Amino acid sequence: MSASLATSERNDTAAELDVGRLVEPERIHRRVFTDPDVFELEMDSIFGRSWIYVGHESQIPQPGDYFTTQVGRQPVVMTRHTDGQIYVLENRCPHKGALVCPERSGHAKRFMCMYHGWRFDGDGSLVSVPVHSGYDGTSFDPKDPGNGMKRLPRVKNHRGFVFASLSADIPDFDAWAGEGLRGLDNMIDRAPDGSVEVVGDCYRTVQNSNWKIFVDNMSDGMHTSFVHHQMARAAQRTLEKFKGQGRPGGLDVAAMLAGEPDQMAKVDLVAHPNGHFDMAAFAPELKGPEADQYKAALIARHGKEGAEVVLQRNYHNVLMFPTIVMQASLQQMRVIRPLSVDKTLLEIWAFRLKGAPESFLRRAVTGANLANSPSNVVAADDFEAYFRVHAGLKGPQSEWISLHREANRDIPVGTSLKGHSGNSEVCMRNMYKAWHAYMTAQ
Ligand code: FES
Ligand SMILES: [Fe+2]
Repeated sequence: MSASLATSERNDTAAELDVGRLVEPERIHRRVFTDPDVFELEMDSIFGRSWIYVGHESQIPQPGDYFTTQVGRQPVVMTRHTDGQIYVLENRCPHKGALVCPERSGHAKRFMCMYHGWRFDGDGSLVSVPVHSGYDGTSFDPKDPGNGMKRLPRVKNHRGFVFASLSADIPDFDAWAGEGLRGLDNMIDRAPDGSVEVVGDCYRTVQNSNWKIFVDNMSDGMHTSFVHHQMARAAQRTLEKFKGQGRPGGLDVAAMLAGEPDQMAKVDLVAHPNGHFDMAAFAPELKGPEADQYKAALIARHGKEGAEVVLQRNYHNVLMFPTIVMQASLQQMRVIRPLSVDKTLLEIWAFRLKGAPESFLRRAVTGANLANSPSNVVAADDFEAYFRVHAGLKGPQSEWISLHREANRDIPVGTSLKGHSGNSEVCMRNMYKAWHAYMTAQ
């Protein structure tokens, strides 16, 4: 009953909103960013019907550990049960709907709802109901799985990265991810021990703009020479000052952003089916005795050629649409949690490559502080650009925004499309093609 109601509501809304006409091959309508009804439909049709990143298994190493977040609008909790398995449950008491786990993370032998004391195991099953006699003679069945915390119908643990879906009726994870997985795999393959782990908690920032404005910017090489020019010039001057005294972590990457508008043209942009993309650039330097040891460990794992392939793929930004943007060679990931049509929460996670030197982790954390933390000197300028885009689009008079840059020059590579240059808007056009497909699917 409730499922069919939800479906008919979604279809009616899609037709009423006329979303099919909001995206054209080379331009998109402002309502894609500003219409609260379009946002609500995105939560159903994209965040409710895709593989959404939940968290990493290293966040919950012990039975009883849990981590809470959201899949679209649905609060969820990722748990490690006593059977050692990971579960992703609706963070909702089946009695009257209260959040069972209000904390962001923690450890609990069992979960107890604070409202009337129903208790649940880490796999969601109902353990006990106080004053049980009150249910005698009613249709309530404590053994009915529907009276436990509901498990999300699809969960996939890909090499430690846990994705889930609110819908059972979606493609398998591998079919959905396709070539879009190569950036994520590249970060894991960089670990000599073959796996990564989360370091500490994440940074969280809130952008006062629509979530897709951030995603667009991830493949927008052209903006760097304008938005980041002042910061990058300061980074260059600082590098000059410290010449011969080591390289202040991360500033070399920051300084690269100060080039001419066509400097990003050399960057490889490749757009994949289902809205994913990767951008290759900004390889961290691997020099010195530590780096040599690391390379030897990587060769031991992948073989000489295999190690070279892993290290040559220097993915700077990798989008797995719609929730994650990896920075594989910088060991970072940003997770997009849209809050409303004009508010977007970003989680910024740093990873340790198991078996790699500690200096790699220091570089990753320094990079996170410099470019992604709430007090960063790089993305702060981006946030201002996102805010201005969203503010400018509120005006209803001019309806369309342009995605024309280097259109009709895309280069097919298998099922993917490579941009004519790093300044191409190919990844944005590709993403809105996927957005359109999700939003108009019946
Ligand atoms: S709402 Fe959870 S026990 Fe009543
Ligand atoms: Fe930027």
